[in-house]
Amino acid sequence: MNFLSIREMERPEIAKLLRSAASLKKDSLSGKKLPAFPDKTVGLLFFEDSTRTRVGFEMAARRLGIGFTSFGVKGSSMSKGESLKDTVLTLKNEGVDGLVIRHEAAGAPNVAARFFDGPVINAGDGMHEHPTQALADATTILEHRKKLDGLVVSIVGDVMHSRVARSNIWLLSKMGATVRLVAPRTLMPPYKELIPAEFHYSLKTGLDGADVVMTLRMQMERMENGLISSLGEYASMYQVNSGTLRYAKPDALVMHPGPVNRGLELDDLTVDGKQSVINEQVENGVYVRMAIFDAVFAKKAAKKKS
Ligand code: NCD
Repeated sequence: MNFLSIREMERPEIAKLLRSAASLKKDSLSGKKLPAFPDKTVGLLFFEDSTRTRVGFEMAARRLGIGFTSFGVKGSSMSKGESLKDTVLTLKNEGVDGLVIRHEAAGAPNVAARFFDGPVINAGDGMHEHPTQALADATTILEHRKKLDGLVVSIVGDVMHSRVARSNIWLLSKMGATVRLVAPRTLMPPYKELIPAEFHYSLKTGLDGADVVMTLRMQMERMENGLISSLGEYASMYQVNSGTLRYAKPDALVMHPGPVNRGLELDDLTVDGKQSVINEQVENGVYVRMAIFDAVFAKKAAKKKS
């Protein structure tokens, strides 16, 4: 079993992973016995920079007794094709049981899955998907709200370049939430008719009555010149701060996948404010990755968990 994208998953599968993450969290915090996979080793292939996702997978592996070998290729010297194939074949022949891949090219984990026998887990591929981030975000929302069904979630910022936004759009809409995308026209994704979301070009209408305000990083490294006139102007129109947050519900949750550009997407007061659940998103990232490892490595017969 691979874990490549939220888009290809059905609602019950997503709900099951969310339940599993919540119960692994509960068991971890109460010191209960956790599932253990001491005979498994995963390769963590990070071809793009990462802090929280890489460490999140490492911590998840450690807690479940999974061995791991972590390596990255600096910059963009590796691109899709032969070189990725050769790397994957090497790891396979060295006896690695599973792969976790972050790559600048959309679809790279799918390519890897063609050449690798064991499970392949997507840790973020280009502008395509970042499925474990969306699971961490949903877990965090569910700790504050009973269900996702019926919530209004506004995703604000550089939607066009954001794999986090894409995975969240699929997850939240499949789980019954209303998704609003809020961005300047130049940072909205194309093919709007295929995206299960509403499109808003002003914060005022986009945040109006929202239950959750999910901000995104401005992905300068993926941007061509000219998409926004200046960062200052972007901040003046789209920054979520103590003033603009008032458009949303008074108890709206404030989220960001990290890394945050303080003073750009969010002001300091809001990042550190009492509505912010940004640190919880990071913490839950470990538990959802444990749930993924458990799902891909647990033997079918041992699946009788409550
Ligand atoms: C995100 C990523 O790399 O996709 N970060 C993360 O994994 N938490 C978001 C980003 O870099 O903007």
